[in-house]
Amino acid sequence: METRSKVTPDTIRSMKARGLRVAALTAYDYPMAKLLDEAGIPFIFVGDSLGMVALGYPDTTHVTMAEMEHHVRAAARAKTNGSLGADLPFKSYETVADAVANAKRLAAVGAEFVKLEGGREMLPQIRAILAAGIPVCGHLGMLPQHVLEQGGYRVKGKTESEHQKLIEDATLLADAGVFAIVLELVTPPVAKEISGKISIPTIGIGSGDGCDGQILVTHDLVGLFPWFRPKFVHPLADCAAEIKSALSQWKKSVEEPVAKN
Ligand code: KIV
Repeated sequence: METRSKVTPDTIRSMKARGLRVAALTAYDYPMAKLLDEAGIPFIFVGDSLGMVALGYPDTTHVTMAEMEHHVRAAARAKTNGSLGADLPFKSYETVADAVANAKRLAAVGAEFVKLEGGREMLPQIRAILAAGIPVCGHLGMLPQHVLEQGGYRVKGKTESEHQKLIEDATLLADAGVFAIVLELVTPPVAKEISGKISIPTIGIGSGDGCDGQILVTHDLVGLFPWFRPKFVHPLADCAAEIKSALSQWKKSVEEPVAKN
């Protein structure tokens, strides 16, 4: 039997220096975490994207701490070799005290690291969570928890001021000690520039292939949420069609049983 050593946030941090790219995907429950782990995914993530693809909310701003805890608990039961992380949900880290208390709640149910959205304004929260012994992943670019105030899912880094702010924020977060930074919907040249400037891995989503790794919502990758799919995703399976076909086949077998002689 193949034995793999446990992946930690530090392992992921070190992948860049070792010339390894980081493959990251979301899992919100036991079976998906198990499947991702069996596929060897090192960065398994209980994202608040679960609000849309698992809970039917219009965006991530509706996801609560209780919902995140419930899903982290389920995914953690898979006891993955990959490092299991979780999003701090909307408004759960507005103060330093809340950030630390809620990061501890996610760690207590099995998160090995937490992710939070934002740049320099989040440094006090990031430093305090790290001081509490919980690894942190940053998230810059389009910030889904701010989709309402940002007026939609828009690409970042197009203007010189956005470009400069992204570079500075990425450097500040890396210096503060985050082990990786998700870059969401950042223009590919800016994402590449950031990746060349910091020593920790950048993990892109819709930000081109100049990042040190990629993350996707697994439902988008395997066609499990056919009602909406971001433009930058090229699905590798159509699970929804497979499921629907099996369901119709079974329904037919119940409604029109083959006559037995
Ligand atoms: O919510 C989420 O799943 C995420 C990742 C896709 C980066 O933030």
